[in-house]
Amino acid sequence: MASSSIVTPHQSSACTPHYNRPTFLMCPPEWYGVDYVINPWMAGNINRSSRDLAFAQWKGIHNVLRGIADVRLLHPEPGCPDMVFLGHGALVQHGVAAIASFHPAERRAETQHLRRWLEEQGFLLWSTPRETAFEGEGDVTFNNDGSKLWAGHGVRTCRSAHRHIAAAWHVPVTSLHLVDPRFYHLDTCFTPLSGGFLLYYPAAFDPASLSAIEAEYPTEKRIPVTEEDAIRMACCALNIGKTVFTGELSRELGLRLFNSGFDVVQLELSEFIRGGGGAKSLTLRLSDMAVTHGLATQ
Ligand code: ARG
Repeated sequence: MASSSIVTPHQSSACTPHYNRPTFLMCPPEWYGVDYVINPWMAGNINRSSRDLAFAQWKGIHNVLRGIADVRLLHPEPGCPDMVFLGHGALVQHGVAAIASFHPAERRAETQHLRRWLEEQGFLLWSTPRETAFEGEGDVTFNNDGSKLWAGHGVRTCRSAHRHIAAAWHVPVTSLHLVDPRFYHLDTCFTPLSGGFLLYYPAAFDPASLSAIEAEYPTEKRIPVTEEDAIRMACCALNIGKTVFTGELSRELGLRLFNSGFDVVQLELSEFIRGGGGAKSLTLRLSDMAVTHGLATQ
């Protein structure tokens, strides 16, 4: 079996960072571009994204986010055009950061920069062996209160990485099989929301995975999206307390979220959608799920 390791940085675990407010890390799109094709969204978009427009859109999300959360910044690095999608670099909870082991070679150079930043902040780092790809929040997500994990496989993250990641926090994990190449990361089709709701695109999963989802989330808590909304990256939504940041939505989905008690902030994300990402993928959550979802203040 692949070996796992916790790397203890300079500080002891008693000094791992703890955030009392929703806190995220973002990386400006200084070197952003669709420079290669590693997902179906990028095909046909090589060199077609505008860096100026991407910057304007990134600033839009950064500004609104700063209104309700703390936002830290990671320095963008040349040669890492996808580094803006920081959510795939790690998964963080309780001062432990499980570091991604990217499947595509094109994204592997990003890891060292994020790893260094997390180490300097005092996070305990949980490393994944190179042979078992794991793409951070892109494919693995905690449920609303942080008591269990959902993990995607089939395209990027290896199924055999799931238990290894769950071991970092000693929590149960349910594996979900992704079957539509357009929804290659779990965060493109599945996002647990506060209040025990779930935003998801059912056709992205195989029948066994759908049954597992339905067994966990009662009908009134499930918010299924149509294909039309799914291809606007509606599921790749960033949820903080009762606020949901996402791209453009249909009127029906906006209403459904509103009626479930959410304030929806719709953002212009066209340049990032060309690269295959939505709102959530532009951030890495640093605060615990419970703090981020407004279940705890300390
Ligand atoms: N180009 C990036 C990649 O393919 C985009 C990632 C955005 N993904 C997402 N899960 N929303 O790795």
